[in-house]
Amino acid sequence: MRGLKGKTAIVTGAGSGIGRAIALRLAAEGVTVGVFDINEAGAGDTVKAIEAADGKAVAVACDITDYAAVTAAVKSFESSTGAGTDILVNNAGWDTPMPFLKTEEAFWKKVTAINWFGPLHMTHAVAQGMAARKSGRVVNIASDAGRVGSTGEVVYSGCKGATIAFAKALAREVARSNVTVNTVCPGPTDTPAMDAFVGTGEQGQKIRDAMVRGVPLGRIGVPDDYPGLVAFLASDDAAFITGQTISVSGGLSMHG
Ligand SMILES: NC(=O)c1ccc[n+]([C@@H]2O[C@H](COP(=O)([O-])OP(=O)(O)OC[C@H]3O[C@@H](n4cnc5c(N)ncnc54)[C@H](O)[C@@H]3O)[C@@H](O)[C@H]2O)c1
Repeated sequence: MRGLKGKTAIVTGAGSGIGRAIALRLAAEGVTVGVFDINEAGAGDTVKAIEAADGKAVAVACDITDYAAVTAAVKSFESSTGAGTDILVNNAGWDTPMPFLKTEEAFWKKVTAINWFGPLHMTHAVAQGMAARKSGRVVNIASDAGRVGSTGEVVYSGCKGATIAFAKALAREVARSNVTVNTVCPGPTDTPAMDAFVGTGEQGQKIRDAMVRGVPLGRIGVPDDYPGLVAFLASDDAAFITGQTISVSGGLSMHG
């Protein structure tokens, strides 16, 4: 894709699932990737996989819920590359299914800290440099849950909806600084998060089968369904696209 070679990117939650697939693809496009994750072992494995494919990556331990830790981690990545960050992919996320009326405040705070404050912290820490340099790309990984809602994921859906609206408002603020902000919405996807969500036994399989029945293209997602769009949005080919929300979910939700 045009304009990616030699750039630097931070991908949060790149130690697993969708984030790892995005990190591998950006590295294959010639981008030096900061593999940000609270799970150091997972981040290390992603870096090894990138290096095995002759790519460049740095593992950075970072809890995105902690603003001071985020600013220190961004500083450390930028001093290791010797450059500002060109691309930020806000991918890290977490949830566990529970009916809203059975949830408690501590759970709301955890879901909100990761899925809502996390992208705020990361974007605030990274986009200031982008605006000053008059160049940057922010891509959020939200969810179709943020567009159409998801039973058992009420607070998470709220955070993902907030992320979508946040991207649109920020896109307006930073457009004249040549920074674009777009959001990709996966549907149900086969990752470790999905295993934790539905379980792996017979009951888990039943839930997966029901999910597949709801997808026009007849399957749930895999991590490799997303990196192409993320790389495109980060590339020069997407220079005139900002504030957009795009679902990658096999037609599960369709938006005009
Ligand atoms: N898997 C799905 O069905 C699905 C569907 C829609 C949207 N999404 C979204 O896609 C993104 C990636 O999900 P996934 O399925 O690959 O999940 P995953 O659990 O496989 O990976 C998430 C990664 O985020 C990291 N992480 C969690 N909390 C963190 C924190 N506080 N600081 C830094 N890193 C943290 C985890 O360690 C993990 O490596 C998430 O934003 C998720 O909400 C996933």
